[in-house]
Formats: sequence, structure tokens, C-alpha cells
Amino acid sequence: MKPIGPMMWEHRLIEKMLRQFEGEIRKINESDKVDTVFIDTAVDFIRTYADRTHHGKEEDILFRDLAKKPLSAEHAEIMDELVEDHKYSREMVRKLVGAKERYLKGENTSPEVIAYLQELARFYPLHIQKEDKHFFYPCMEYFTKEEQDQMLAEFYEFDRNMIHEKYRKVVDQIEAQSP
Ligand SMILES: [Fe+2]
Ligand SMILES: [Fe+2]
Repeated sequence: MKPIGPMMWEHRLIEKMLRQFEGEIRKINESDKVDTVFIDTAVDFIRTYADRTHHGKEEDILFRDLAKKPLSAEHAEIMDELVEDHKYSREMVRKLVGAKERYLKGENTSPEVIAYLQELARFYPLHIQKEDKHFFYPCMEYFTKEEQDQMLAEFYEFDRNMIHEKYRKVVDQIEAQSP
């Protein structure tokens, strides 16, 4: 299997999650209330799965190795764009968390929450499309079969560490909050 296989499966799960945003936006519109548990769950999914686990493999392994190859001007440009997209999604999530926190303090930030959810649901599928349709397949051409196998093994090792990293962070946070 090519290393882009698991990356594309991950895209499908991210899309599925983003599709849930639509119903949530409708609920907020109807009730003018924000389900902060949903927001926390969505933020955790994006930060832990889409950003740390998925973008982590892209940036720390795939893009790192591509940067060592003689990329065409087009591919180099797309790779820069993809890194910028990742930064933009982090920024959107940071704003969503900010709006949710102000909501919990009593401010009516539901229009902001809707706007950030809408923006993530609009923008991120376009990012996925760029990778799936214009980047992943041609990029594999830069690597030999051995390099691709090695990359896939590194992806699995990266994933293996994620569950431990995630729950180390959970305990660290609880520890930091306890008196
Ligand atoms: Fe990406
Ligand atoms: Fe991706």
C-alpha cells in the first residue's frame, strides 16, 4: 500500500465530522444556544485527529521528505499552500474556542460560533480536495517503492504514539489545574 492510502481514509473521517457541523449550526440558529459539549468534542477531534495526527504525518513526514526532492514549481507551490491551510485551520479552531469560552462566561457569541463552524465546514473540504486530487498521487512519483514503504512504516509509528501523547496531555492538564 502507498502511504497516501491511510491519509485518504483519514480525510473521509474528517469530512464526516465536518458534515455534522451543518446540523449543529441549524440547532444553534433555532435555539440561539450553543451546545458547548459538541464544540469541545469537535475541537478535540480537529486538534487531536485532524491536526496533530493527520497534519502531523503530512508535515513531519510527507512534506519533510518531499522538501528533500527536486519538486516541480507547481508541487512546491501547492505544498506551501497546504502548510498555510493548516495554519489557517488552527487559527479558526483557536477563534472557535475563544468564542465558546466567552459564551460560557455569559456573552452571546452564538453568531461567532456559527461563523467559525461554517468557515471550517466550507474551507476544509477544499483543502482535502487539493490534496486528494492534485497533490498526493503525483507526489508519490518522487519516491521509490522502498521510500514509500519506509514512509508508511513511519506513519504507523507516528500513529502508534498518538494515543499515548493524547492521554499524557490530558493528565498533564488535570495536574496543572489541581491545587
Ligand atoms: Fe493537509
Ligand atoms: Fe490531509
